[in-house]
Amino acid sequence: HSASSHVIIVFGASGDLAKKKIYPTLWWLFRDKLLPSNTHFVGYSRSNLTVDNLRSNAMPYLNAKDSEWTQLDEFFKRNSYVQGSYDKPEDFIRLNKFIVDNFSACSNRLFYLATPPSQFISVATNLKAHCTAESDGLWNRLIVEKPFGKDLDSSEVLAKHLSSLFSEDQIYRIDHYLGKEMVQNVVVLRFANRVFSPLWNRDNIANVVVTFKENFGTEGRGGYFDEFGIIRDVMQNHLLQILCLIAMERPISMEANDIRDEKVKVLRCMRPLSLDDVVVGQYVADPENGKPGYLDDPTVPAGSITPTYAVAALYGVPFIVRAGKALNEKKCEVRIQFKDVIADILPSGAVHRNELVLRVQPNEAVYMKLMTKRPGMGFGAEETELDLTYNRRFTDLKLPDAYERLLLDVLVGSQINFVRTDELREAWRVFTPALHALESQRVAPHPYPYGVRNGPPQSDEFMRRLGFTFSGQY
Ligand code: BG6
Repeated sequence: HSASSHVIIVFGASGDLAKKKIYPTLWWLFRDKLLPSNTHFVGYSRSNLTVDNLRSNAMPYLNAKDSEWTQLDEFFKRNSYVQGSYDKPEDFIRLNKFIVDNFSACSNRLFYLATPPSQFISVATNLKAHCTAESDGLWNRLIVEKPFGKDLDSSEVLAKHLSSLFSEDQIYRIDHYLGKEMVQNVVVLRFANRVFSPLWNRDNIANVVVTFKENFGTEGRGGYFDEFGIIRDVMQNHLLQILCLIAMERPISMEANDIRDEKVKVLRCMRPLSLDDVVVGQYVADPENGKPGYLDDPTVPAGSITPTYAVAALYGVPFIVRAGKALNEKKCEVRIQFKDVIADILPSGAVHRNELVLRVQPNEAVYMKLMTKRPGMGFGAEETELDLTYNRRFTDLKLPDAYERLLLDVLVGSQINFVRTDELREAWRVFTPALHALESQRVAPHPYPYGVRNGPPQSDEFMRRLGFTFSGQY
């Protein structure tokens, strides 16, 4: 039968992610009338809260215009809040009764696990036992946020547990980078353009660099961050996902499993990283700009060796991934550097390598660096760009937020942009040995001052050794 309603239950409703991402996303989808008409939202956490508290916590992130206030009221009228523990069956029984009494037993249920990772297993067990919709034709889906474990073993424990409770097609492991416009564009750019496919191989490509930079440090989020570090925070997931899309073969179709099959093949080719394949850094105070060092953050344990910057070389072409906090700017891009041409008919040193750049953020763009004759009487070669900057080419287009797209995907049951169990396992297999070696040998990260462009100088040296030639704004 057709469901009479949808209920979205947010576990961890009092948390940071809920107020900054989940509630704003639900509001935008509601405002834009993208949700099924009879959708209700239930927040759940251990804190003693009301819907008004949820509203005021999320307010700074909702971007609601004055003209939207009536709608905003309607949105929050659809919200409720249930206080409860993450481990007591009776609390989950009460939550279920609340849903049945207030909405309907016949509702599809979307459970968003935005709790601390230590609670995943207990929440999943209890909600499976007491809160799932049981009638035929209704669905129960689970959104899980990273961290999915801390290494191969802990992630396997979690994966096994989840798969004993839910089937793979009910589990949506969110990696919000897969919801970004430019990341979704990779498949179209690669497979809908004749000009790229013959060049998309190691004979023509010298290296691929995926870069993630942020111009802020931990700023009070040190408690979480220090336990994980930059490799687990963004590299093993966001950057590796982008890389898989760049490196994979053409999928058989755009079906979720066909795409994920190809991504898994890329990962399976990668050998596990050792200490020689990574360089790590940690930011220190820069007296010139008055910015604090990582260890100055009171939420960071004294003497921590957690990396806030890392660069790693993955198998093949080479593929380089690098990520850093407290650098000069916020930026994420993919840079594909082509090999040198035989340029001996032109003055030596005049010709630079071609590069294809996909700028994921900010200011989405695809541009290709190429050589051209400097216009005019002379005959000099000059580097220039074919430039597709989105906000110039696609004026008045509003790009949806990554979370908006991904939540809609879950509601329609599309797993294209979610991480499958085997993908996750392979990603951990690649990074775990390097992570364990860094930690067991207590490898000291190279210092870099807050606000520099490229992390510690050892990072540039490492890339140079891999054959990267630096030109312009890399
Ligand atoms: C999160 C990381 O997954 O991604 C954060 O935990 C990081 O440390 C964030 O700041 C970056 O996301 P975005 O969409 O702002 O680039």
